[in-house]
Amino acid sequence: MRFLIPSSQIKIILVALLISLAGASFVYNQILVNRIMEQERKNVELWARAFQHNFSRVQQEISQNLTMAAREIQKYEEVPDSLSRLILEAESAAITNDFVQKEIILAQDLFNIPVILADESGFAIGNRFIEGDNYNLDALMKQFAELHDPIIIEFGHDDDIRHTFVYYGESPTIRYLRFFPYVQVGILALLLGVGYTTYRSITRSEQSNLWVGMAREAAHQLGTPLSSIYGWLQLLQDKSGDDQDVISITYEIENDVQRLRTIAERFNKIGSQPELKLMNIELIVDEVITYMERRLPQLGKQIEVRKSVFVTSKAEVNPDLFKWAIENLIKNAMDAIQKNKERSFVSIEIRQEADFIIIDVEDSGSGIEKKYLKEVFKPGFSTRKRGWGLGLSLTRRIIEDYHKGKIYVHSSEVDKGTVMRIELPV
Ligand SMILES: Nc1ncnc2c1ncn2[C@@H]1O[C@H](COP(=O)(O)OP(=O)(O)O)[C@@H](O)[C@H]1O
Ligand SMILES: [Mg+2]
Repeated sequence: MRFLIPSSQIKIILVALLISLAGASFVYNQILVNRIMEQERKNVELWARAFQHNFSRVQQEISQNLTMAAREIQKYEEVPDSLSRLILEAESAAITNDFVQKEIILAQDLFNIPVILADESGFAIGNRFIEGDNYNLDALMKQFAELHDPIIIEFGHDDDIRHTFVYYGESPTIRYLRFFPYVQVGILALLLGVGYTTYRSITRSEQSNLWVGMAREAAHQLGTPLSSIYGWLQLLQDKSGDDQDVISITYEIENDVQRLRTIAERFNKIGSQPELKLMNIELIVDEVITYMERRLPQLGKQIEVRKSVFVTSKAEVNPDLFKWAIENLIKNAMDAIQKNKERSFVSIEIRQEADFIIIDVEDSGSGIEKKYLKEVFKPGFSTRKRGWGLGLSLTRRIIEDYHKGKIYVHSSEVDKGTVMRIELPV
């Protein structure tokens, strides 16, 4: 039975989603920016044309002619002064009140695009809408020149033509807009991240509740028939008399009932906060080894079980659950060894390092493929035909949640073997 909980796939899907949304957002943004840039160029061109128009020869000449006319008229006594004043007023009104001047050239908030005017030698002769006080016009001009080609305005006529260059930058709108996709992607990533962790913690706590509930229910369900079998057993023992066959049968039944009781007790413990006692780890491991060795003939495998102990320290453990954990590791080690394989072994080593008791369960079995190293502790992951994939996740729960220890694959090599390691705080 093999199936993987595809949490790594969910992550890949989320990241792919984020990348494609980010991509789409950047592309869309670029289209918008380009459109606005086009619009802005047209605006600056309009501004430049208005500027050119107002300072063109025609406008200057009109103004000069009006002034001259006013002066000429003043020479004639019979013409009232008011008339020349009227003409002069018209001239100054033409300049100052001019619609183009007021509504386009000097308009305060019409375009809001920073503009620098430069003469033919590249000298800045004027600017509009430059933000801040400490600016360097030359540096800005260079910057603007990199952004857009300048717009060129012509003044003068015939052989006295001068050019003015209009360099322009970007409006605040465009600058904000360029910045926007980063904000958008940031918020999106945050949302996805928060969503994913919430989802994970919800499924985790749901899984955990399921564990606890199932375990308690199983313990409860096993309890009643077990007590009753035990009762029957005692009745049988009372009635067996000297019949050796019956005595040995009842002995076997009692062993099995005892084993079932242990299992029920384990289920009960995993469903509640178990009590920890200061225990000798070696003795517990010994008990498990004895039990597992007895089961070896059933498995039909030639496996030497070794034990080396370098410390006799005690640690706080719940014996029922801790035995279960060690049993799972030894069982996996035996499962990983093929039938008829020579010189097979499972070796358990106990030693102390700093504040930890280290228990290594080593085998000469099939090893774990690299790609599965991260998966083996996930509930439901199994490479065995009849595996449920619960052994290691249960073991991890026992060691890490109930004993504040650590369990991990210390090393593993395909076809050579595996070392599973438990670290228990002392
Ligand atoms: N000692 C080991 N050697 C090789 N593979 C192992 C070992 N221990 C665990 N595994 C791998 O981890 C998987 C999950 O183990 P486990 O959670 O106990 O479930 P199950 O034993 O039901 O398959 C196994 O199917 C196996 O692929
Ligand atoms: Mg197993």
